Amino acid sequence: MPATAKTFRSPSKLNLFLEVLGRRDDGFHELETVMVRTDFCDELAFTEAENGGCKLAVAGAPELARNVPVDESNLILRAVREFQRAANVSTEWKIDLLKAIPMEAGLAGGSGNAATTLIVLNELCGNPLSRVQLHQIAAGLGSDINFFVEDCVAGVCTGRGEQVQAIEIAGPFHFVVARPSTGNSTPAVFNKLNHSDQKRDAAKIIEALQAGSVPLLQDALFNRLTAAACELNSPMKSLLQQLATVCGRPAAMSGSGSTCYVCCHDEADANVMLHRVQTLKPDFAAILRTL
Ligand code: C5P
Repeated sequence: MPATAKTFRSPSKLNLFLEVLGRRDDGFHELETVMVRTDFCDELAFTEAENGGCKLAVAGAPELARNVPVDESNLILRAVREFQRAANVSTEWKIDLLKAIPMEAGLAGGSGNAATTLIVLNELCGNPLSRVQLHQIAAGLGSDINFFVEDCVAGVCTGRGEQVQAIEIAGPFHFVVARPSTGNSTPAVFNKLNHSDQKRDAAKIIEALQAGSVPLLQDALFNRLTAAACELNSPMKSLLQQLATVCGRPAAMSGSGSTCYVCCHDEADANVMLHRVQTLKPDFAAILRTL
């Protein structure tokens, strides 16, 4: 009997706060960031491969799918290899990725794919690895993967971003996001950063999330990488300013960009804001909700 595919959602995140605390000797930056998981997802389907050898296939809108590598440079296949090694399993899978989350967008689509792969393979194999072991693999693969492995709606992430403290929030929160056609390279943005002596902390964002207060939340949005990213991506700089103007509220950038967003009061408000944002003709715009 042919093996049947099992399909899973692979979520994205938004950064509501991001402070860079310093540059480390290993070239990475010490961060404090607050992330929320959103309902904007890719889909990953896993089928046990009959003839051996892991294969990744990508589908979705051509402008999204065509840039996704399907070789071992893809975090999904790297996650499979690391899982097989750590769990000592030789099962191979055919993996189908339905791409919805743009790359170089600050939404951690690729990191979400890697985390989903680790969690799903562990489940499909009868949970040979503990959550701590999954976290160890995740930290070796990238800085944003642990947030998704933690399986929380919101978290304060420190270190390179891989140390996650889950927080309870009074959601759901709604956001309208928009991205220009050009993405941002994360290393390039970090390299452009002018380090400031004045550091902010995440207390106000956490308070706003826990109180369920959109006014408090939008006043406390902060991302230290914004100025550097605006220098590198002038269409994004314009989009960020226009978002704030057409929506009449603060706009912020997620991660190293180039996705920018505004906070909305509820679904109805988000629909009104999405309509206004679409008049700016961004490459991509959508309503995202905390999961
Ligand atoms: O860990 P990840 O693959 O997401 O990081 C991509 C790049 O972003 C790193 O190679 C590094 O240049 C930069 N980065 C950083 N400090 C972090 C996270 C990422 O400098 N905390």
